[in-house]
Amino acid sequence: MTTIQFVTHDGQVHSIDAEDGVSIEQAAIDNSVPGIEGSCGGNCACGTCQVYVDFAWIEKLPEKSELEEKTLAFAVNIQSNSRLSCRLIVAPELDGLILNVPVSQF
Ligand code: FES
Repeated sequence: MTTIQFVTHDGQVHSIDAEDGVSIEQAAIDNSVPGIEGSCGGNCACGTCQVYVDFAWIEKLPEKSELEEKTLAFAVNIQSNSRLSCRLIVAPELDGLILNVPVSQF
């Protein structure tokens, strides 16, 4: 299990213990993290699983795929540290990862 911290727009921290190998979006949904919608079921088609990666962690994540870039372009409130959490897989090296949740996914 890997601990991931989600910080919602109002500053509340939701710390979850996620199973390695699942997507961070799925782990967030399974743990009822507010603000992660995942409307397309993790298929990189909706952009509603967007998170803002804490700047200390950006370099530790894999590069965005072309598909993630394209889908992110249609997401709302994009920032330079935006990622789609359905494209990020829980792994031990991400233990302690901090992700900020946008104020809205729509
Ligand atoms: S769940 Fe739809 S893009 Fe990630």
